[in-house]
Amino acid sequence: MDGFVPQTATGKVLWHFEMSLDGFVAGPEHDMGWMAGMSVRPGLLDEYVRTTGAVLAGRDGWDAVIGGARPYGGAWKGPVFVLTHHPEDAEPAADVTFLDCDVAEAVRIARTAAGGKNVEVFSPSIGRQLLERGLIDEIDLHVAPVLLGDGIRLFDRHGGVPVRLERVGGEGPRAVVDVRYRPEG
Ligand SMILES: NC(=O)c1ccc[n+]([C@@H]2O[C@H](COP(=O)([O-])OP(=O)(O)OC[C@H]3O[C@@H](n4cnc5c(N)ncnc54)[C@H](OP(=O)(O)O)[C@@H]3O)[C@@H](O)[C@H]2O)c1
Repeated sequence: MDGFVPQTATGKVLWHFEMSLDGFVAGPEHDMGWMAGMSVRPGLLDEYVRTTGAVLAGRDGWDAVIGGARPYGGAWKGPVFVLTHHPEDAEPAADVTFLDCDVAEAVRIARTAAGGKNVEVFSPSIGRQLLERGLIDEIDLHVAPVLLGDGIRLFDRHGGVPVRLERVGGEGPRAVVDVRYRPEG
């Protein structure tokens, strides 16, 4: 794969998602059904199970999707932190801490809990806040062969200036990535 670099556990803050080709990480009403039947490269799951030390999520994702489930189909075990302005009405769950604090403080808490492994941010809204504060180390995406056209975008910020990124690996920091698809027959 062109310039592919496996993930490493070095205490990074990762904004990590499977994303549609048109930039959505969830469909309308948090629908995740579009992910069904997608295949990922061999070893991908183990790579993230091994390198993840803690997960930081938002309350909407928690209420709609994660809830009783756990990241990576339960293959990963570790502390999950959920940011919310109203932790008092959250159902307590093992290994889950509901936080009502500044995002930077939430990252500090998650980093400490991760014990040197990576913190995975499973929330577009929290990832955006952290990016604006310079607290995202890497954006790690797996692009699925589907167009959603509606739902929750990876990065939703109206009227903003472009956020320049550097490509990790590959043919240089400003190299575009070539992909080619055709509509399913
Ligand atoms: N494609 C993938 O790989 C993937 C992976 C993970 C998640 N997802 C999807 O991502 C979606 C998450 O959507 P989202 O980003 O719109 O929602 P979200 O981040 O999960 O939840 C937003 C909520 O988090 C709380 N929050 C956010 N920032 C906060 C702050 N600074 N302080 C306190 N509370 C804060 C607020 O909850 P309160 O209203 O309680 O205050 C806010 O309304 C879900 O649909 C999930 O399924 C996709």
